[in-house]
Parts: sequence; C-alpha cells; structure tokens
Amino acid sequence: MAKKSTVFFCKECGYESSKWLGQCPGCKSWNSFTEEPVIKKTTAARANVGNFSEPKYLSDVQMNEDERTQIGISEFDRVLGGGIVSGSLVLVGGDPGIGKSTLLLQMCKLLVEKKKKVLYISGEESLRQIKMRAERLGQFAGDLLLLSETNLDQIQSLVEKDKPEIMVVDSIQTMFKEEVNASPGSVSQVRESTAVLMHLAKGLGISTFIVGHVTKEGVVAGPRVLEHMVDTVLYFEGDNTASYRILRAVKNRFGSTNEVGVFEMKNNGLTEISNPSEYMLQGKPEDEPGSVIAASMEGTRTMLVEVQALVCQTYYNMPRRTAAGTDYNRVNLLMAVLEKRLGIQMASCDAYVNVAGGMRINEPALDLAIVSAILSSYRNKSLNSKTIVFGEVGLTGEVRAVSMAEQRVLDAKKMGYEVCVLPQVNKEHIKVNGIKLLGIRNIRELNSLLHE
Ligand code: TYD
Ligand code: MG
Repeated sequence: MAKKSTVFFCKECGYESSKWLGQCPGCKSWNSFTEEPVIKKTTAARANVGNFSEPKYLSDVQMNEDERTQIGISEFDRVLGGGIVSGSLVLVGGDPGIGKSTLLLQMCKLLVEKKKKVLYISGEESLRQIKMRAERLGQFAGDLLLLSETNLDQIQSLVEKDKPEIMVVDSIQTMFKEEVNASPGSVSQVRESTAVLMHLAKGLGISTFIVGHVTKEGVVAGPRVLEHMVDTVLYFEGDNTASYRILRAVKNRFGSTNEVGVFEMKNNGLTEISNPSEYMLQGKPEDEPGSVIAASMEGTRTMLVEVQALVCQTYYNMPRRTAAGTDYNRVNLLMAVLEKRLGIQMASCDAYVNVAGGMRINEPALDLAIVSAILSSYRNKSLNSKTIVFGEVGLTGEVRAVSMAEQRVLDAKKMGYEVCVLPQVNKEHIKVNGIKLLGIRNIRELNSLLHE
C-alpha cells in the first residue's frame, strides 16, 4: 500500500492527526481539522539556533550591555519586558483590524528615528497603502525599508543580503515557501515560514516581529499554531465599541507575562494611556446605588474599574441575568451566595452586571465589588464614592485574601481614594497611612457599609 501523503491539522492549535477529527483533542475546538500534505524534511527540524557549535561554560558566555533596544513607546516596552531583545522572535496576534499593523508601523517610525535599520515586509498591503498609513502617523524622521512580498525564499535572500537590525513580517498567514505543497495560511505553511524566520532571527541576530491574525472562521491557521516556536507572544485586544486597545504578553522568555499596555486608537494612530484607571472611570456617577469601584490588577499595575449592577423585580418565570466584562457563571454563583448567606430572594430578581468602560476582568478579587454592587442596587443604598473594594468571595460567604493587596491600596490612595474595603486577612499585613482600611471577614459585614 502506498504511504499516506497527507495529514490532518487543527487550524486553531496545530494539533496533528492521521485522520480527520470532529473535535480537536488539543484545544477542544470543533470542525477545525484540515487536510494537508506531509512535508518530508521540515525546516523546523533544521532551523535550530544558528550553526552547530561547541558547548560553552556559562561564565564564558558574554552578555551584551545594550542587548535591549527601547522603542520609546513605554507601554510597548514594558510589555516586552524593557525593550526589544536583539535576535528575538515576537508574535503579535489579534483580530483583523484591531491595529497590529498600525502599532508595528509606529514602532518602526520611532526605531528609524534612532538610526536603526528596519525592514517592514507586508504581504497584505502594497507599498502605496503602507505609505498612506504612514502619512496618517505623521512625518517619518528616518527612512524605513519597505518590501511587499509573500515568497519567503525571496525574503530570505534579501534579508541575508541587507541584514536589517529589526524586521516586521505582516502577516505570517500570507507568507509561503515554494517547496511546501500547501496554500498560504495553512498550518504547514505557517509553521515552515515561522521556522525560516526563526532561523534568520537567531542566525543573523535580527529582532523579528511576526503579525498573526486571530481567525474566527478558521479560514487560515491561527497564531496559536506558532506560539511555541517564538520567544514572546503578545496579543492585541480590544472591544469593537471602545477605542482603547490592550497589548497583553501571554508568553515572554525575556520578561514577565501578564503585563499589559493600554492604548487608544485615534485618527493619527495609537496613543498610550499611561493612567488607565482615570480613563476607565470617565463619566462615573457619584453616589449612585449599584455603582462600586473595584481595584483590580493588570500585571504590576492597579486598574480601578467601575462595577455596575442593576437588580430589579423580575417579570418572567426565569429571572434574567447578564454579565458584561466579567464571567457570567461567577456572577450567578455570587448571587446564589448572597441568597443563601443573607437570605435575599435573588430568585425573584433580574440582575444585570457590567464592568463599565468595556474592560474584561476575570480576577477573583473582583468578587467583592460585584457582590457590593448587587447588594447596593438591591437595597437602593450607595457606597461612599471615595471607596474602593477588592476581595475574593467564597461559597460560604467568607471574604478571602487576594494577592498584591498593599499595591492596590497604595495606588488607590495615590488616586485620591479615602476608604478601602478589603479582606480582613489582607488588612492585618498592610501598613499604609492616609486611607481608611475596612477589613471584612464575610459578606454579612458589607451591609453596614451601605448608606442611605
Ligand atoms: P490595522 O493596523 O490595519 O489593523 P490590523 O493590522 O490589526 O488588521 O488597523 C486598522 C484600523 O485602525 C482601521 O479600522 C482604521 C483604524 N485606524 C485609525 O483609526 N487611525 C489610524 O491612524 C490608523 C492608521 C488606523
Ligand atoms: Mg494589518
């Protein structure tokens, strides 16, 4: 029997199987398998870090002092762990149209101003289209090398000749290698192309940024297929309805993950938001029942967000519940805890919970703020508007400790807040003056904090 010459890949995560599967065992997505030819000798196997070399003692390895290049967009630099590491491979993933090309072109603009040799390769836009985008971003002080190409063999020979210091590949799903018998955007092409780029990046010390579109329909392979091959994975996220964008590190060999950078998309490109709390709290009502400010952490930074709840009598057999910006099941669970522990008839109430500003927060420390907002709306009593709340709520209604409590309190104080409601266990370890700390043990103690 002839040897099988095709395999099946999951477009979401790259899981490989010899037969078609309805659901991917790797990432659990449905209908994500596609048939692709087998590649005999993969670049992935060959493209290790540069050439063969001899073992070296750790103490003999030289570190370059200026190994990191600061971009000059501090939100971006922080997410990268303090700038671009030379020879690193960075994946920037995100939905189409979220602003990946814009962000990277803005980065190129600042880098050429620093006299860096930067090459921007686009497989999606013509040179004129890139120029049009560049014009929106303002005057380029340095000169940027542009290339509109999708054939990786061409790109490889050009890059080896030109040797840029930094390179952007927009996007990996448009790139192809001729010897791979599959269409651009297929799992094999994406993997092979990334292997070539990794080879170039590590061999020549070129810091490379790869754009990867996240796809809902699964037409092309998703960026998760190449997550394990790159050094750093950044996701650019945002809401269709809001103009802010969040750059999040989900993997970083050269820095901490869970760092985020916040941007706003404007007419002339992305601008940094260095104080996201202020931005998120714009237009917050004063002393209204159902509105509570939560201190949540995004990386090492405190993010103050407004949690809103609206609880009212239901007119349906099944009460309506919605949760925007946080986990729906968590909200249901917290309402059940309220019902059981405080004896409130939640089953006869509709409840709508919303994290204002369009942020999505799934941190357990948000629990206490959600519970406070629901209770505040139910009793129609407000919390002092200079109050912030954080803490995890357990199933017996106990308020549990959360991480980085002192940081949250310090940042809230800096922003002019006067009262902080927090878990009693956290309070015992915090020594901060100038802000009133109200430690609570369980949600019954919340009642006394609500004002008429
Ligand atoms: P883009 O960077 O092309 O997204 P991606 O590369 O992730 O697909 O962003 C495109 C969107 O951003 C588009 O809807 C227009 C908008 N935009 C602005 O609002 N202001 C700007 O200055 C630019 C360049 C784009
Ligand atoms: Mg783009």
